[in-house]
Amino acid sequence: MKLTSSSPRNFETEKLDLLVFGVHEAKDARQLMKGQIQSKALAEGFKGKPGEVFFTHTFLDKGPKAIALIGLGDRTKVSQEHYRKVAAMACKIANTKQAARVGIFFDTDNWVKSASEGAVLSAYRFDKYLSEKDERHLSEVVFFTDDKQAKELLRQGEVIAEAVCLARDLINEGPSVMNPVAMAKVAMAEGKAHGLDVKVFDEKMLEKENFGLLLAVGRGSSDFAAPRVVRLAYRPAKKAKKHIALIGKGVTFDSGGLDIKPSDGMLHMKTDMSGAASVLAAIRAIAQLKPNVAVTAYMACVENGVDSKSYHPGDIITSRKGLSVEINNTDAEGRLVLADTMNYAQEKDKPDVVIDIATLTGACVVALGPNMAGLFSNDDALSSRIMECSQNTGESFWRMPMPDELFDQLKTPIADMKNTGERYGGAITAALFLQKFIEPKVVWAHLDIAGPARNDKDQPYISVGGSGFGVRTLIELVQNWA
Ligand code: BES
Ligand code: ZN
Ligand code: MG
Repeated sequence: MKLTSSSPRNFETEKLDLLVFGVHEAKDARQLMKGQIQSKALAEGFKGKPGEVFFTHTFLDKGPKAIALIGLGDRTKVSQEHYRKVAAMACKIANTKQAARVGIFFDTDNWVKSASEGAVLSAYRFDKYLSEKDERHLSEVVFFTDDKQAKELLRQGEVIAEAVCLARDLINEGPSVMNPVAMAKVAMAEGKAHGLDVKVFDEKMLEKENFGLLLAVGRGSSDFAAPRVVRLAYRPAKKAKKHIALIGKGVTFDSGGLDIKPSDGMLHMKTDMSGAASVLAAIRAIAQLKPNVAVTAYMACVENGVDSKSYHPGDIITSRKGLSVEINNTDAEGRLVLADTMNYAQEKDKPDVVIDIATLTGACVVALGPNMAGLFSNDDALSSRIMECSQNTGESFWRMPMPDELFDQLKTPIADMKNTGERYGGAITAALFLQKFIEPKVVWAHLDIAGPARNDKDQPYISVGGSGFGVRTLIELVQNWA
């Protein structure tokens, strides 16, 4: 799908199959549209309420063959999210009405980037395994604006949305295919293609570097699905003020290990590498957008499998940091792979900020529902930044508390800590576990995306399946820091 821009003066001369107007409620529906189409829309009761659609063929010799009005609601309440949604709706209408070349117009400023995100995201399909693919009519979207930066904003929206689509592809692929070795291959190819410095750590290297916890989790997987940690580094041309490390949980399949999950709980556990997919996607976009911030991304990839070699409940394992962990549940594996990887990143890269992103706990989904991520942090300023960015991206986060006393749940007489506490407060104890692996003075946030990493229902511009949640907020965070 091609994204282009043109001046609103060219509404009539551009050869369009469909022209879509985002229309604010009531008043300006009349101002915007002249003549017959306006009368027709008003006669049919169109008011410009959010998501309301009016569609008509024009039957004119000049100008677009069809026009659609999509409601934006109250002008004072319009956000970037409205532009994404309306652009996505425009693309859907185009496909059902068999329109190939579609124009979009809003009579406001600062909508082009979000609209291009919405358009590209809504066009995503994971259809590589379908013998009969859905027909696609839409081939070009023209953004009507006089914004001088339109081309650059279009490109940014496209880069960001394509990154989300990369994450979604990796998540949606079957877990026997998208194992840690395959994840590392994709990361190497993507990283190289975009000028990133890429290193893949195999089992030998991970042994040498004492990734004790991560290797324990990976022990139950076949040789062809052995653990891989991937480090991708982006460094800007000028000296950066900040260095951010992004650490993603990449459990390519979470069977639960010997504490095996019931079938229902296991079904979607190919999604458990979403964190790793999102940091790869984010750093690829960052390499294209080139903000003045240093970013190092780590993908901590392992399969949590069932085997006689699997790590056991009752094992006492020494982490890379030297802290010992008693394993009381092999299904709490995410915190283990993150702990060693975060420790390595802090020691070797000395970042100012560490952000981990993980489908970490079912408890977080219980707390916040299926569409919102938990945000845990040792720093109020970083939390505010993330919340602000998420307001722009439309990805929802909610800050969770980290009361110290809950760490008591992780105490054990025979090791420095155990890996799980009680049922209640499970998302919090997971965060408190991770915090033990954060060095003093390091500003840190943990994003628990167990809920939103997968959509069980179609969302306005992200369909069922792996969502790529977090990619856009991570990119926004890095760009805003520049
Ligand atoms: N991958 C899961 C978390 C998860 C659950 C993600 C549901 C998406 C949807 C994680 O590894 C896990 O199994 N966590 C356990 C922790 C428990 C054993 C303390 C959980 O949430 O039940
Ligand atoms: Zn698990
Ligand atoms: Mg969900």
